[in-house]
Amino acid sequence: MEPLTTPRLVLDPWRERHAADLVRMSSDEKVMRHIGQGVWSPEYAAQRHAAALEHWARHGFGWRAILDRADRTFLGLAALSWLRDPIPGIGIPAVEIGWWTEPHAWGRGIATEAAEALVDDAFHRVRAELVVARCTPDNIASQRIIGKLAMTRHPYDAQSLYGDLVQVYTLANPSAGD
Ligand SMILES: CC(C)(COP(=O)(O)OP(=O)(O)OC[C@H]1O[C@@H](n2cnc3c(N)ncnc32)[C@H](O)[C@@H]1OP(=O)(O)O)[C@@H](O)C(=O)NCCC(=O)NCCS
Repeated sequence: MEPLTTPRLVLDPWRERHAADLVRMSSDEKVMRHIGQGVWSPEYAAQRHAAALEHWARHGFGWRAILDRADRTFLGLAALSWLRDPIPGIGIPAVEIGWWTEPHAWGRGIATEAAEALVDDAFHRVRAELVVARCTPDNIASQRIIGKLAMTRHPYDAQSLYGDLVQVYTLANPSAGD
C-alpha cells in the first residue's frame, strides 16, 4: 500500500482514518450534485468506505485520499476500481476512475493532477487494459478533466452505479499487448 506522489499531492491508499472524510464529503450537496441521487447517508458512506478497504485488500489498488503534500491536509478522493458492472462494448479487465475534491480546493488543478497519477498507476502497476470514466453531460468540470486525460467518448451511454444514464469515456493502455 504505497502512496503515490505528484508535485503538490500525496495520493494515500484509502485507510480506516479516511472514513470521516468520506462521510463529510458525501453529505455535501455541492460535491454530490452530479453523483447519482445526491448526498449519502452516513450508513451508505460507511458501506462504500468498507468496500474501498476490501478492494485494496483483495486487489492491491483502489481509492486514494488526495492529501496536500505540504501538510497532509485532506483534499479529496481519487477512485480506481475494477469495473463492477457490464457496459456494452467494454470487456474486462477495465478499471473505472473517478474524482471528488473538497470545494475549498476547486479550480487549482488538484483533481487533474491526481487523475493523471491514477491513470499512470492503472496502466503501469495495475496493468489494466482500459480506463473507463462515467460522467453526466452537465458536469463541466469533470468533462474538462476527462478531456485533459485524452479520454474518448464511448459509443454507448450506460447506467451509473446509481442507475442514471451517463456518458462513458475510455482510454486504452498504450502498452497493452507488450
Ligand atoms: C469535478 C471536480 C473533482 C473538479 O475538481 P478540481 O480540483 O476543481 O479540478 P481541476 O481544477 O483539476 O480541473 C477542473 C477543470 O474544470 C474547470 N471547472 C471547474 N469548475 C467548473 C465549473 N463550475 N464550470 C466549468 N468549468 C469548471 C476548471 O477550470 C478546470 O479546467 P481547465 O484546467 O481547463 O481550466 C470537483 O468539481 C468536484 O469534486 N465535483 C464534485 C464531485 C464530482 O462531480 N466528481 C466527478 C464525478 S464524474
